[in-house]
Amino acid sequence: MYGKFITFEGTDGSGKTSIIKEVERYLKIQGYNVVTTREPGGVAISEQVRNVIHDVNNTEMDPLCEAFLYAASRRQHLVQKVMPLLKEGIIVICDRYVDSSLAYQGYARGIGIEKVKEINEYAIDGIYPDLTIFLDVSPKLGIERIMSNQKNHELNRLDKESINFHEKTHEGYLELVKMFPDRIKRVDGERSIKEVSFDCFQLIKGIL
Ligand code: TMP
Repeated sequence: MYGKFITFEGTDGSGKTSIIKEVERYLKIQGYNVVTTREPGGVAISEQVRNVIHDVNNTEMDPLCEAFLYAASRRQHLVQKVMPLLKEGIIVICDRYVDSSLAYQGYARGIGIEKVKEINEYAIDGIYPDLTIFLDVSPKLGIERIMSNQKNHELNRLDKESINFHEKTHEGYLELVKMFPDRIKRVDGERSIKEVSFDCFQLIKGIL
């Protein structure tokens, strides 16, 4: 039996990491075989690409170059890690996937959602998630969370983007929820970890 591919999306500071940890715990308690991973990264080659993208010195990076690098990193991670796990029947939960590129590079950077989708079709080869959960947190709250969490969070090039960029990314995600209503489900992320993770867990149970 083929596993299920579930992705979490959201603007920076939307709480994906904490929620994924909690959801993984619930699923494991119920006896499901689950592996969590993340983008950009997840395997050695993709982590190296991540380092290039997030290097604070790479201020001259062209937006299209950035989109291609994310797609390249995605391809390697998909082929080397996600696909083999799915083939073994395992539930794969991934922190970010193609929708991050559509919201950040396509919408917020202004390349265009359709163009970035086209670039990514080569990378993902039709492998869309069975379910994508968009954790909806206002960009302002997201930034406040990042700032208060700075001791455990390396401030990367992208965190330094203006509030404007965060707002645009948020708008981009809302656009994606409208474009793909069957696959992308919006969850209010401004509540307690317990409440948010419970809602996510219910959505996941609905596809298992
Ligand atoms: P994170 O590991 O804290 O989620 O940070 C990853 C950053 O990379 C975040 O700011 C979103 C950004 N990103 C993109 O812009 N496009 C992408 O395709 C992906 C996967 C991430």
